[in-house]
Amino acid sequence: MEPKYPKRIQFAHLPTPVEPMSRLSKHLGGPDLYIKRDDQTGLATGGNKSRKLEFLIAEALAQGADHVITTGAPQSNHCRQTAAAAARSGLGCSVVLRGQAPEEVTGNYLLDDLLGAHIYWTGNREGKEVIAEVEKQLQTMGHKPYIIPLGGSNVVGATGYVLAMKELTEQLAQEKLNIDFIVFASSSGGTQAGIVLGAQVYGFTGSVLGISVDHAADTLQTLVGALATATATHLGLEQSPLLDHVVVNDDYLGDGYAMVSDLEKEAIRMVAQKEGILLDPVYTGRAMGGLIDLIRWGAFTRGQKVLFWHTGGTAALPAFANSLL
Ligand SMILES: Cc1ncc(COP(=O)(O)O)c(C=O)c1O
Repeated sequence: MEPKYPKRIQFAHLPTPVEPMSRLSKHLGGPDLYIKRDDQTGLATGGNKSRKLEFLIAEALAQGADHVITTGAPQSNHCRQTAAAAARSGLGCSVVLRGQAPEEVTGNYLLDDLLGAHIYWTGNREGKEVIAEVEKQLQTMGHKPYIIPLGGSNVVGATGYVLAMKELTEQLAQEKLNIDFIVFASSSGGTQAGIVLGAQVYGFTGSVLGISVDHAADTLQTLVGALATATATHLGLEQSPLLDHVVVNDDYLGDGYAMVSDLEKEAIRMVAQKEGILLDPVYTGRAMGGLIDLIRWGAFTRGQKVLFWHTGGTAALPAFANSLL
């Protein structure tokens, strides 16, 4: 059954390329590695949020909104891409960032500002509280704000990755490429929920593995399973519950969210120096570090094909210079 996709605004650069990583594969001596370049989707550098925002911004406009509000970490890629999508669509944008304003204005925080977003810091307060305050303030001024959740991870945003699986399965069919595993960074769950549902809808027969960036595996699995099933309903699909299709590895949480360790540092340098591709310190560096570790442990056999889905984030690199050098 074909999903009933709601209206979307096409501002991502699609399809993103699928490329072999021959030098990295040879260096590691394990499976054949490929990469899907969602770091090249555009919207102020690129990343996985472009696909989600195509549907989220379309819904905001359909509801008559003139402003979007969203939230994230100080170096949130999601907030930066939302600010870009809002600018591109003529909408105002407010971002509520966790914690205190850092002294140095760099990375995504700098880009949020350049893109014209109004930036609010939560300090010690709950993000929800600050979002509600910003929403009220905007309404008092006669605006119609539309709230995009953390990471754009609701049924509307996850739809972007259901459609991405259509794109990927078409590319694989065209290239006659049989991928055994798709591996990527998973955090607020929208990307994984969309990929898991899209895998069912478009008949992808390999395995889908989310490397958790910040949640225990059972927590993220439950969240992704529920979101994937709800996204199916949103798209008018009769789909049995998807929880059993959600596989999460939480072995690489290290010292916590955005805490850069040798795992990320090695992965970032290795992929940069073998393939000329930049990863990010928080998400893709951690997920690739996990993949490299799994390869070293012999989790894949030679001849298997593993696709790493690059979800972006490189705009954050300058903000982590001190922990990367
Ligand atoms: C670069 C990057 N990769 C992966 C993710 C994880 O995606 P999701 O939140 O949909 O699980 C994020 C989320 O913020 C991200 O910024």
